[in-house]
Amino acid sequence: MCGIIGYAGKKNAEKIIIKGLSRLEYRGYDSAGIAVLEKGDLHIRKKQGKLSVLADELKRAPLKGVTGIGHTRWATHGIPSDINAHPHPSGSEDIAVVHNGIIENYREIKKHLQNKGYLFRSDTDSEVIAHLVSDNYKGDLYLAVKGAVKKIRGSYAFAVVHRDEPGRIVGSRMDAPLIAGVGKGENFVASDIPAILDHTKKVIYLENGDIVDLSSQDLKVFDRTGRKARRKKDTITWDISQAEKKGYKHFMLKEIFEQPDVMRDIINTRLKKEKVVFQELSIKKKDLAKIKNIAIVACGTAYHAGLTAKYMIEKHTGIPVWVDTSSEFRYRDPLVDKKTLTVVISQSGETADTLAALREARKKGSSVLAVCNVVGSSIARESDGVVYTHAGPEIAVASTKAYVAQLTSLYLLTIYLAEAKGAKKADTDALVKQLKKLPAEADRLLDGYRSKKNPIAKYAEEFHKYYLARHNKSCFLYLARNINFPNALEGALKLKEISYISAEGYPAGEMKHGPIALIDENPWVVCIAVRSATYEKMISNIQEIRARGGIVIAIVSEGDREIKGTKAKYVIEIPDVPEVFSPALVVIPLQLLAYYVAAEFGYDIDQPRNLAKSVTVE
Ligand code: M6R
Repeated sequence: MCGIIGYAGKKNAEKIIIKGLSRLEYRGYDSAGIAVLEKGDLHIRKKQGKLSVLADELKRAPLKGVTGIGHTRWATHGIPSDINAHPHPSGSEDIAVVHNGIIENYREIKKHLQNKGYLFRSDTDSEVIAHLVSDNYKGDLYLAVKGAVKKIRGSYAFAVVHRDEPGRIVGSRMDAPLIAGVGKGENFVASDIPAILDHTKKVIYLENGDIVDLSSQDLKVFDRTGRKARRKKDTITWDISQAEKKGYKHFMLKEIFEQPDVMRDIINTRLKKEKVVFQELSIKKKDLAKIKNIAIVACGTAYHAGLTAKYMIEKHTGIPVWVDTSSEFRYRDPLVDKKTLTVVISQSGETADTLAALREARKKGSSVLAVCNVVGSSIARESDGVVYTHAGPEIAVASTKAYVAQLTSLYLLTIYLAEAKGAKKADTDALVKQLKKLPAEADRLLDGYRSKKNPIAKYAEEFHKYYLARHNKSCFLYLARNINFPNALEGALKLKEISYISAEGYPAGEMKHGPIALIDENPWVVCIAVRSATYEKMISNIQEIRARGGIVIAIVSEGDREIKGTKAKYVIEIPDVPEVFSPALVVIPLQLLAYYVAAEFGYDIDQPRNLAKSVTVE
């Protein structure tokens, strides 16, 4: 869960690498480092803290070379510190390596190398790569890397340079993302596209076991057998401006406001003459018609999208669906077989647990369909079919637009499955018609929150004061029923991720079975009470909370009159849409609430503590 970049060209490597790392900081930000080859020397600078700490240091003493590698870290082995930051040098300091992933057998390798006299400086697993490459080095960096990767087990994407081979970078990957960027008179490796998009739009998605060997003029890829591999060069169709803040204070806020357009783009891409079309889906519709059950597997926010999909799919297709978090699915010998369609959902397409779950499902004979945002990611490539969510790059660690993109894609998938299962045309047409209205409704909803002094920002300000007055004893509870229950989990997740305030999401019907004990004047309870089959039940829940002194924020459908009588302290209206489509709108005020609460506390919203954007370790 770190970000790596390598540059070989004719320009100043330091500048390109630092800029590239700033676009990878979402992957980890507890320390950063750079190694540059310059006039027969290898210079390494690394610093604990955000990239800005390193950048300040480099301003004082710049590096001049034209080839180098860089790293932004999310600690796994060893605390964040200067010494544990990457790049890691070999003992003689002629080699430097940056690594993302976990070397599972590093203890064994370390012991072996220590017995041979290698001195280790850091507590990281990554340092073994530097010494292993050094141990295998006989004048050719590619051959040294080839020898080293034979001995390591685990997940890795790494890049390495050698003082005696200026202008050359060798990298390799296994279960961690690594792309190669092909430029004019310059070439790159990186963990993700935004890092290199200022310089080239031509990328190669490296495959597991690949080794890339590059200089300014040349870029070769070798597969795991050592044969020269022909890998397709893809052209990136989106722009770097999509990965920038465009005047918003934080990426998270920008991404929240992008949601109507994301929905619109997905719907426009997928609907051809009012029929759902998944252009890139290689699983045939007639095969989908034969499936008996669906297993949905995902983590975090993607898991909440999966839970929501269960309600839609079961209701509109009659196919039984169960949903698991990937980390549970992969270890519990799940009952999937060739009659099961396993749907894995992942924004990054690199989440280690989801990737492992996907492999487990395929091993058991299930077809796997990925709902994924990052084109060419491991999950997309290893699945039998993929539905891309086309949300564009999501930079904030707290996922927002990727969630709405997943929901929108899952609505479309539901309609597609319903057609495959022989649903009445009038029914699927009605769903299509409603779905098409969602982006405009989302726009209308967000219009009320464009100014900095909007109602949700005000509620957040009041919560902040209340929290301090109550000596930090206040917390949040989110309650909902039916298809909005997953949004209760999502609202709570958003809040705790970026404001570090304790928050729980519950099905409202469970309140009496425990959570009601929490209710006094301390917690703020967000009750999702939009027009639905269980609306009356939600009203009763609100009354129960009010009777015990709890403070209620109610999310209701536009025009609701009854909630006012419950004395909910705050009421947030969302456009009145059919219940099945309401989750894609309900989540928007939940995201805004989390955002503004975190802003009140002055926290680092885009890069919350202890988190990273893609979790490529278990
Ligand atoms: O990239 P993925 O969708 O597989 O990531 C899954 C989770 O790690 C992710 O949703 C995480 O929970 C987010 N930080 C939520 O905001």
